[in-house]
Amino acid sequence: MVTYQIAPSLLAADFNRLGEQVAAIEEEADLLHLDLMDGHFVPNLSFGPAVIAGLRKLSELRFDCHLMTTNPDAYLPELVKAGVDLVTMHIEAIPDPTHAARRARAEGLDFGLVISPPTPVEAVLPFLEDCSLLLIMSVNPGFGGQSFIPKVLSKVESARNWIESHGLKADIEIDGGISTNTIVAARDAGANVFVAGTAVFGEPDPAAAVRDLRKQLEQA
Ligand code: DX5
Ligand code: ZN
Repeated sequence: MVTYQIAPSLLAADFNRLGEQVAAIEEEADLLHLDLMDGHFVPNLSFGPAVIAGLRKLSELRFDCHLMTTNPDAYLPELVKAGVDLVTMHIEAIPDPTHAARRARAEGLDFGLVISPPTPVEAVLPFLEDCSLLLIMSVNPGFGGQSFIPKVLSKVESARNWIESHGLKADIEIDGGISTNTIVAARDAGANVFVAGTAVFGEPDPAAAVRDLRKQLEQA
């Protein structure tokens, strides 16, 4: 049986009260999605390991760290110290991730790859056996609040077929423009981990927003 997981993205939280915002979704969410940006791989900056380490003290959620940086493997030691559980790296930043995957696992982290909308799914397929998760971006990385790009659903389908036909276990996470309007299409294409920023923290009651997303997933 597939288990569905919801990962609220901190990027959309109120940065004036991050602790409170994480506490609000602690009981409802499965993962906390943490977007690290370096202003180089993407034209934006966000937050780094110090902020993650601060939040680690007040949350027991699994920390899902999406690295939108060049040289993503350089951050591994800091991220381990900060208390991350899963780290994902863009295939566009690290075309041969074999070594980085091994290094992440040696540090005790789960490892995943990320693929941006313009990149063909074939770029990641040969490396899926090294991954516990594949993150398929459904917006161009760098900013929250963008519209879902339906074209990426065919990549979700191809990746799901590849994973099943090769007897692999990787989860498929989708990130960007996920809301109660788009989550079912993503699930039907084969995603089972759903990142939601604006659809959770942009709502007056973030916990209720996570419940609403989960309710959509339960429908046939
Ligand atoms: C964008 C980030 C996303 C972002 C999603 O580069 O990777 O995780 O927070 O935000 P929404 O859900 O608002 O599209
Ligand atoms: Zn993300």
